[in-house]
Amino acid sequence: MSHKPFSIAIDGPAGAGKSTIAKALAKELNAMYLDTGAMYRAFGLYMLRKGLSKDAAAVAASVNDVDITVEYIDGVQHIFLSGEDVSAAIREPEVSMAASDVSAVPEVRVRMVALQQKIAEGHDVIMDGRDIGTKVLPNATLKIFLTASAEERARRRCLELQEKGMPEPYEKVLKEMLERDWQDTHRAASPLVAAEDAVRVDTSDLTLDQSVAEMKRLALKAIGG
Ligand code: DC
Repeated sequence: MSHKPFSIAIDGPAGAGKSTIAKALAKELNAMYLDTGAMYRAFGLYMLRKGLSKDAAAVAASVNDVDITVEYIDGVQHIFLSGEDVSAAIREPEVSMAASDVSAVPEVRVRMVALQQKIAEGHDVIMDGRDIGTKVLPNATLKIFLTASAEERARRRCLELQEKGMPEPYEKVLKEMLERDWQDTHRAASPLVAAEDAVRVDTSDLTLDQSVAEMKRLALKAIGG
């Protein structure tokens, strides 16, 4: 890489299309993609297996015990918990809330942010999450706040679950999504909020291709490509 590495921060609520769009954009720009939610999910799964995901003191006490690593296999991010590939297990719906629960614990955020910054160091990187523009990459080349209406986000999540053979009723998905949004935006430690210098992109009425094209346009403008 002969240029100064660029970094693109994508934040927003669950189901706005962050990971799908970020993955496609990373391919287009030949950059590394880091799904930071997967790391909180792996921690959530670890605490869920202990039956303690809602116990903030136990979560904080476990911060240095947990062994979470990220590897890229054929360009795809895999996440390991004590050497076990949990990339599929962390997508189970019950892990979503556990991830949101553990992510509210300040000690967890300190450890995860440090890990994320270390993984990204020296790379052209696209990261998605809730605090990327505000905390993880405060000097990002470009910050995007990606949103969509709650109904549209729930509809997309239903389709995704259906495709994975784990269908859930729309009303349940919408309710859980609103609960998680509320929890993620109201926690004291790094709540989900758009960075002051973030560009807002609403994907409610955009197809995936249109969303990626708009993000690519913004990215090339910011990178100077
Ligand atoms: O993006 P996701 O749905 O996989 O994230 C799971 C949970 O992790 C989400 O409810 C909030 C939390 N999270 C966070 O607090 N900070 C991040 N950078 C990424 C995710």
